[in-house]
Amino acid sequence: MKNHGSQRLTRTALRLSLVFATGFVLAAAAARERLPLNDGWRFTKGDPNGDSTGLIYEVRPAVKDKKDDQAADTEPTAAEKIAATNQWVLKPWILPTANAFIKDSARHQLRPEGNGTTNIAYTQFNFDDRSWQRVNLPHDWAIAGPFYTGWGEGVGGGMGRLPSPGIGWYRKQLDLPAGDAGKSIFLEVDGAMAYAMVWLNGHLVGGWPYGYASWQVDLTPYVVPGGTNQLAIRLDNPAASSRWYPGGGIYRNVWLTKTHAVHVGQWGTQLTTPEVSRERATVHLQVTLANDSSSAATVSVATELFALSASGQPSSAAVAKIAPVSLSVPPGASVVAEGTGVITNPKLWGPPPTQRPNRHVAVTTVSQAGQVVDCYETRFGIRAVRFDPEQGVLVNGEHIPLRGVNQHHDLGALGAAFNRRAAQRQLEALREMGCNAIRVSHNPPAPELLELTDQMGLLVVDEIFDCWERKKTPLDFHLIFPAWHEPDLRALIRRDRNHPSVFLWSVGNEVGEQYTGAEGAKVAQELVSIAHEEDPTRPVTAAMNWAKADMPMPAVLDVIGLNYQGEGIRDTLPPGEVKGIRTPPQYPAFHQAFSNKVIFSTETAAALSTRGTYLFPVFDGLSSPVKDGLGGDAKRQYVSAYELYAADFGSSADKVFAAQDKHPYVAGEFVWSGWDYLGEPTPYYGARSSYFGIIDLAGFKKDRFYLYQSRWRPDLPMAHILPHWTWPERVGQVTPVHVFTSGDEAELFLNGQSQGRKKKSEYRLRWDALVYQPGELKVVAYKNGRPWATEVVTTAGAPARLKLKADRQQIRADGQDLAFITVSVADQAGSVVPQAANKIHFTVEGPGEIVATDNGDPTSFEPFQSPDRQAFNGLCLVIVRAKPGEPGGFKVLAQADGLKGGVTALKTTLKNN
Ligand code: GAL
Repeated sequence: MKNHGSQRLTRTALRLSLVFATGFVLAAAAARERLPLNDGWRFTKGDPNGDSTGLIYEVRPAVKDKKDDQAADTEPTAAEKIAATNQWVLKPWILPTANAFIKDSARHQLRPEGNGTTNIAYTQFNFDDRSWQRVNLPHDWAIAGPFYTGWGEGVGGGMGRLPSPGIGWYRKQLDLPAGDAGKSIFLEVDGAMAYAMVWLNGHLVGGWPYGYASWQVDLTPYVVPGGTNQLAIRLDNPAASSRWYPGGGIYRNVWLTKTHAVHVGQWGTQLTTPEVSRERATVHLQVTLANDSSSAATVSVATELFALSASGQPSSAAVAKIAPVSLSVPPGASVVAEGTGVITNPKLWGPPPTQRPNRHVAVTTVSQAGQVVDCYETRFGIRAVRFDPEQGVLVNGEHIPLRGVNQHHDLGALGAAFNRRAAQRQLEALREMGCNAIRVSHNPPAPELLELTDQMGLLVVDEIFDCWERKKTPLDFHLIFPAWHEPDLRALIRRDRNHPSVFLWSVGNEVGEQYTGAEGAKVAQELVSIAHEEDPTRPVTAAMNWAKADMPMPAVLDVIGLNYQGEGIRDTLPPGEVKGIRTPPQYPAFHQAFSNKVIFSTETAAALSTRGTYLFPVFDGLSSPVKDGLGGDAKRQYVSAYELYAADFGSSADKVFAAQDKHPYVAGEFVWSGWDYLGEPTPYYGARSSYFGIIDLAGFKKDRFYLYQSRWRPDLPMAHILPHWTWPERVGQVTPVHVFTSGDEAELFLNGQSQGRKKKSEYRLRWDALVYQPGELKVVAYKNGRPWATEVVTTAGAPARLKLKADRQQIRADGQDLAFITVSVADQAGSVVPQAANKIHFTVEGPGEIVATDNGDPTSFEPFQSPDRQAFNGLCLVIVRAKPGEPGGFKVLAQADGLKGGVTALKTTLKNN
């Protein structure tokens, strides 16, 4: 087999060769098909007649405390006892879905007799769903709002004030050709929030409760080939189940996979690279083969390895082969085939800018009696990651300081509904800042996110849980931890273990088991052991904000992950003011206790700011918790963007840098957080979205972006001035000016007059006594005595016109690809008016549509879908797409009362651009 590239190519080539070889088109049935199942669903909220009797997964405890604004690091508590009831629950029908991920077969659950609950109207073929909403997946039912404002019933700031809780049903008909008889047919769901249950043709097939997991159910026993099949999915997303916005619905991609009865199992390949050098790499492959037929199958398994280009095109010739193996797979069983290949002069995967993220693909062919029955592709990368307690992380021998950020799963105005371009845009902005690593906090990401990180060369801490047995919110994952932690963890690792970007597993974040000594460490140990069994090549961590070096938890982890403890938590506050954890800096204690382990910060900073909002006076130290008059304005719910302020358990970026520099053995940091996200609006829970981001919810850079860039990209000549310089109300008042630069010295000029040349002794340069006069601020930065970068900020005039700038001028007309257009309110001369708040109205001319608008203001309750949006501190965002299948182009127009409107024209094409 040659030239077997993308899945489509492979399938076509395989079909052709089979048709050629056998002369029967029937042979095409042998090929694996993975069909997107995203379009044409019907959706409604609530159960039939609002009656959930017989439909619940399990009885849940009553929620006594509905407040969701407690500090993130509040100590988790023990699970509530649930009073016995005789309510009918469907859990016994759902648990068997997990069997493939439970090691001890004695603990596998047998499906009970019967069909759970019968005659549920929404599962029946004859049910008329034409009045239901038509939706395409990925779909987030909550992002349409409306926002709950105020403090009464409904969803509070913690979960983003959007209606994510509730029950939702999705229905879709599947026409299966008669030729599907005898095939194995699976429904694959990349993510559904939450407690999913699946029916086919009225039969309860199975389900999966954890809303961030990817899973499949086997439809084969219930399919009617040659007929129309009715699929129904019920989701039940509990209130008080999350510390942030989870979204609601089938918010990731869904697939229908059809295979021959003998096939590669779900996530059935495991590629490792036990020896890696520039000259030679050994690639070890394990393939799990499943036989769903009733007779034993003798198969031959062969694999070829191809290099992939940056865009994912396979090399024309294989770079190595793994010799064919023959084996027999008993009926109804799985067997693992193993083999090894050697690649000479391999192109290694590694993080830019010093390395390239080269990828490979393994094409595995399964044959039975000389006929190909399955062809399966696994993308992978060849790299050697070493954890060194003194140096940190080394990739292919090069020390890579972790310059990471934490990222939640939502995509701002688009909600939780996964969109590849939106995720790519987030990562691109982070990379521009010099970020080289992502922690997916605190749950499995969309599979496509890891394709992006593989492609871009970002390292990933792949994390699974925010809680174990002890709870953070009344109805969070702790309810199902006992039955599901093993299958969820095994499933995550099997799904993600071939991604070169994943370099570390994290089994938990700030879990309550830190507080329960040996008992808690036992839970940690079990999770670590499961991870080792599934993947012996990567170490395991968990993020600890409380456990100290002499406690049992860190001892069972391979790598020490600390949240905020390295810098110290609330340690500089006067004792009377301290509620919650108080900890002096902990890096040295951990380093001393675990001289054989790598230490890094899973979370640092939790710094807070509102883009473009500057409050006076300005704190003259390195880092301060936010308070009214000290970086905070509780009434307007804004935090000053001087970037000196943090949650009371956090630290400013500057303070974190100082701690990292003082302890060079620390492998690096993951900042909380890269982008703002929906929910968790610490410190102002009247708002809808966070203040932690280095980048705001709309994707606009806060000043902090440049502080990190100045440190993480020392070779990039840059200088950034803050604040803006349009302060008609501050003439004659002290208005501190701070500069972030990758240089080591800078001179500031106000209207041409030098304000002094300063050398960097910390991480920013400050002219704290500067008195405001309108005009021009200019900074000239130097490095090693030579001019390095300059930046100019001028006083803007009155708002005069709107300027539009698209992130890309050409997009695909597939209904998925998006353009993100930044709109700025500018004065006559074209300078952004920094405090402008004009209301902007958007329209589209031609075959395009507005998907969402935003402005990054955490207090805005304008609906994200509205074509009207108030500018926030001079900026707003409109997200547009082309109508699918209508290429050519369209225009986006912006208007505001009293201003000259703006327009931008986008080209759209059916080709990949
Ligand atoms: C940490 C927690 C994060 C987030 C952050 C900011 O304690 O692990 O999930 O809540 O604080 O509040």
